[in-house]
Amino acid sequence: MIKTLEWTDEGVRFIDQRKLPTEETYLTCTTYEEVADAIRDMVVRGAPAIGVTAAMGIALGVRDAEGDHVSELRRHFDEICETIGETRPTAVNLFWAIRRMQDRFEACSEMPVEQIKQALILEAQRMYVEDIAANEAMGKHGAALMPSSGGVLTHCNAGALATCGYGTALGVIRAAVESGKKLQVFADETRPFLQGSRLTAWELVKDGIPTTVISDNMAGTIMKQGKIDAVVVGADRIAANGDVANKVGTYTVAVLAKEHGIPFYVAAPFSTVDLETPDGSKIPIEQRATREVTHIAGKAIAPEGVKVENPAFDVTPAKYVTAIITERGVVKAPYEENLRKLAKVAVSA
Ligand code: MRU
Repeated sequence: MIKTLEWTDEGVRFIDQRKLPTEETYLTCTTYEEVADAIRDMVVRGAPAIGVTAAMGIALGVRDAEGDHVSELRRHFDEICETIGETRPTAVNLFWAIRRMQDRFEACSEMPVEQIKQALILEAQRMYVEDIAANEAMGKHGAALMPSSGGVLTHCNAGALATCGYGTALGVIRAAVESGKKLQVFADETRPFLQGSRLTAWELVKDGIPTTVISDNMAGTIMKQGKIDAVVVGADRIAANGDVANKVGTYTVAVLAKEHGIPFYVAAPFSTVDLETPDGSKIPIEQRATREVTHIAGKAIAPEGVKVENPAFDVTPAKYVTAIITERGVVKAPYEENLRKLAKVAVSA
């Protein structure tokens, strides 16, 4: 399995996703500030991977914090959480992970400093293991929804590289293929950062899953040609009403899928569901550097001085979503009611 990220004694180790697919290089962040930079600079990206990275960054910062008193440790802990929390605003997994580490800190705040540090490291490692298990469960639930043979379109990268392993949308595809389904994946290249052609294609080709890269503007015509039987994408945040924030361009794909009568599935762990955000209009959308649009591999592809927009995500209204595949099961409309039901089931389980 691809090691997207990993806790080591030296620090948090990442495959550098900015360099893929041409270079497979690894980078170890030895301070929490470096971990925050790795999230901001897209060394590591994808909502679930960002969440676990945040937890590991916090654990790393706390491990190396000075001071013998819990009050000192708490001061460092708060600073670390604040720095990590300012990296990327849309993926709710980041804030979910911070809150979980805060809860853990509170739960063991009566213990000696060294034990608190150890508990936080263990919590981050637990989140890593849970993420892979959630993806495998999602894969099982979602595989049943995939056609026994045919084309599946995906946008961005919701694969092993966006998680601790196996992937969400690509986990569903992997599980379907493992169960004997004959799928042909169409990967949108996903401008401007090219997560589809650089990352999705890289990991699927590595796995021997038939994959065709298309530029984003080809999706409509490929659907019209009857080559797509299902769409499956990931999510950065799912609002209580089922609106889905995901990589910009997802909304276009969802509308096209509706027009062509193609089911549109979203695969995401429950940590991506944000019941405190009522609908998609309240989801903060990250604006990224204009250079991502005006340059490819360091080369200008637009005239200097031109105006540029670069919202990293868009919101797909729930009405376009056929089903949301989570590790707890498949959710269909009415989303508000069914997401809340599933949230309660798991809490009492
Ligand atoms: O900007 P990115 O690369 O972090 O955006 C990633 C996506 O939009 C993914 O589809 C999403 O995080 C789901 S990952 C399982």
